[in-house]
Amino acid sequence: MKIEAKKISLTHLPTPLEYLPTLSKELGVELYIKRDDLTTLAMGGNKMRKLEYLAAEALEQGATMLLTAGGAQTNHGRQTAGVAAKLGMKCVIACVDNYPGEISANILLDRLMGAEVVFQAPTGEPGQAEKLIKMLIEKYEAQGEKVYYIPVGGSNEAGLPGYYECACELDAQAKAMGIGDATVISAVGSIGTYMGLFTGLKNEGSDLKLTGIAISDFGPDKDVRLMEYFAQVKEKFQMECSAVREDFHIETGYVREGYNKPNADVRQAVYLMARKEAIILDPCYTGKAFAGLLDMIREGKIKQGEKIIFLHSGGHPGINTPHHRVEFERELMDGITIL
Ligand SMILES: Cc1ncc(COP(=O)(O)O)c(C=O)c1O
Repeated sequence: MKIEAKKISLTHLPTPLEYLPTLSKELGVELYIKRDDLTTLAMGGNKMRKLEYLAAEALEQGATMLLTAGGAQTNHGRQTAGVAAKLGMKCVIACVDNYPGEISANILLDRLMGAEVVFQAPTGEPGQAEKLIKMLIEKYEAQGEKVYYIPVGGSNEAGLPGYYECACELDAQAKAMGIGDATVISAVGSIGTYMGLFTGLKNEGSDLKLTGIAISDFGPDKDVRLMEYFAQVKEKFQMECSAVREDFHIETGYVREGYNKPNADVRQAVYLMARKEAIILDPCYTGKAFAGLLDMIREGKIKQGEKIIFLHSGGHPGINTPHHRVEFERELMDGITIL
């Protein structure tokens, strides 16, 4: 790895890179899956790699509490709660979101691990999240805590090395399996995972290609964020590589109804992966990215015979989110027999 950063080990790396024989045959592509859902702690997921670096910085600063933010069902919040529990720290998750009416899915897991979850209904006021976070930091610091703040998705410079490291890991695994020029496909939310992979592959001179699939609106604000983020990490880690907007391949046309909204094609993609390969995707991120991948095959953007590595970034507790669960119940009850 050409960049330097301190981390603490919180999971078992490398995660497996597996060939998916049944789906490959069915779809006419050579499909592989990078199992970053198997990052063990707190039911795993992509945030664990970022948190290995973020937690190292938090400990170095003498923090007693991790405070982060996200939607009600934030996977990142759940994994932050796990890291805090493991390291003997407190954890608060701030959500500018409505309480979903029941303690289930990630919220239940957050509470199992002892994290506090704070909801504030969205008002549409600009800066609401920042105000809530500031208020909470002040409150806990007044109580004597040393708060380490982690932004949404752990997507900042300090979290970047997590997926940079994954890019190096993937490059070595792909070369060993004879697929060193495959295309890696990843869901894009707060951009940290994609940016870590992008910089890792580019800065290390890998032949792997990278395509992101946006799971929420990717408008001009995100373009600005993308370029700013790249400039920040390039400077912080003194990277040799450079990039212009056109170098970032992010598909923005598979967002469907919007962030974490139920969608029939996404559920079909979840069923397909579960029924052919016994791997569970989630309806917010990985199921949507996989549905986008299937569309790209149908549309010829991914060619028959192409080598594809799909990044499984975790998130499966999301299948129990109440508004998704009702849709699953509607579609799956026909296979339940009560004698
Ligand atoms: C399961 C899952 N996949 C993908 C992502 C997207 O990662 P990023 O926010 O780094 O773009 C997230 C983010 O929360 C996630 O929870």
